[in-house]
Amino acid sequence: MKERESFGSRFAVIMAFAGSAIGLGNIWRFPYLVGQNGGAAFIIIYILASFLLSLPIFLSESVIGRRTHSNTFGAMEELAPGTKWKWMGLLTVISPLVILSFYSVVGGWSIEYFIKSFGGFGSTSAAGAASSIATGGEASISQVSAAFGWFISSTWGPLFCHTAFLLLCALIILAGVKSGIERFSNITMPILFVLILLIIIYSVSLPGAAEGVRYMVKPDFSKITPSVIAAAMGQSFFSLSLGVGTILTYSSYVSKNEDMVLSASGTAVMDLMFALLAGFAVMPAVFAAGLAPESGPSLIFQTLPFIFTKMGETMPLLSTVVAVLFFLTVLVAALTSAISMFEVGVTYLVEEKGLTRSWATVAVFVGTWILGTLCSLSFGPLHDVHLFGNTIFDFCDKLTSNFLMTFGGLLFTVFVGWKMRRADVRDELTNGRSIRFNDRCFGILYFLIKYLAPIAILVIFVTNLLAK
Ligand code: PHE
Repeated sequence: MKERESFGSRFAVIMAFAGSAIGLGNIWRFPYLVGQNGGAAFIIIYILASFLLSLPIFLSESVIGRRTHSNTFGAMEELAPGTKWKWMGLLTVISPLVILSFYSVVGGWSIEYFIKSFGGFGSTSAAGAASSIATGGEASISQVSAAFGWFISSTWGPLFCHTAFLLLCALIILAGVKSGIERFSNITMPILFVLILLIIIYSVSLPGAAEGVRYMVKPDFSKITPSVIAAAMGQSFFSLSLGVGTILTYSSYVSKNEDMVLSASGTAVMDLMFALLAGFAVMPAVFAAGLAPESGPSLIFQTLPFIFTKMGETMPLLSTVVAVLFFLTVLVAALTSAISMFEVGVTYLVEEKGLTRSWATVAVFVGTWILGTLCSLSFGPLHDVHLFGNTIFDFCDKLTSNFLMTFGGLLFTVFVGWKMRRADVRDELTNGRSIRFNDRCFGILYFLIKYLAPIAILVIFVTNLLAK
């Protein structure tokens, strides 16, 4: 059998993990959730959740993945042979593919907006929705919103972009773990940080931006409710790609001498930093434009193009450059995350079903393309099709973010905390007790994995269940 690939260095491991973690969750979802859930108070809970709950799940997935060097299904079979845990492995093959389906629709929007950013955000809208922008007139937010609404509800444009996005993922995946995933993440992740810093400088220097900065740093604790807490935890899981086997799969490509605690905490810190940076890039711009921070999922696709268009009336070149950089950032971040979901299915098909990497890539592409197409059409021709009261897109989003990810996270921590032997977990997290710092912290980490995380996740799960 062909030797299994592995990441080449510690830097590569952290960049790959960070590549998976940093994505639309940070740039698209985090700012609008901050807006909807009361600003800085939400951020504080989010930070607590990241280290007290997400980190233990991350470590649990890492322990399973690195110990077995196997796909999610094979890993559970190896550690708990002949038990029902293998179904858990299978579930975590399916979950990331469902996420990938709707994720690639939004990834497709970012391709469209990246292209648009070169020439103006209203220019392709229908029925003159933004004709005055295109012809150099005064931009209004309703025109830019109309252009967005028109685009996502049309049939072919979003489908074409969704297909292009998935094709880009497939090409990276086809190149393999080292020459595809590792190389792409190594190059793009550092660039992303530089890009987002440039965008922040632009955003906070806009007149009226200070209000947005204040919104990000001044907590209003009266806004905290159980559902805000659940949203913060859910976002933290989503942002760190947890509960769906991506971290498990990437960990299976990590060599035995790597420090898993260090790479997990390094990833959590980078992911958090990037989310905060994205918040500081988006919120000041939202306030500078006098827009509502709670405008939801369309936030970055409506408010930022509006700002860019508005500023473009006086500073066309600068606005275009920043707009291009912004949507390039969104696109690249989305790609590095999407490939991590893609890889889960590919690793499974190669190792469990004996497919070649190429055929496995084709199979995952076709499956997610079909479901993604339904998600994309659910903004237009299929918007009347409802599953449990949600459009297909919202259903896939809610099913995964509110249920499958939390459920997966719960099972991973329970598996590592209660099913695996404590000595094996210790062995994995401390590399045979050779990493002294990890060995000293092991008691706390184990407590988080065994008790705190599962109990807290159960609470979120029930809160989400009661909420809908
Ligand atoms: N963490 C990614 C983001 O923030 C999303 C993701 C979820 C990636 C689940 C992989 C698995 O965009």
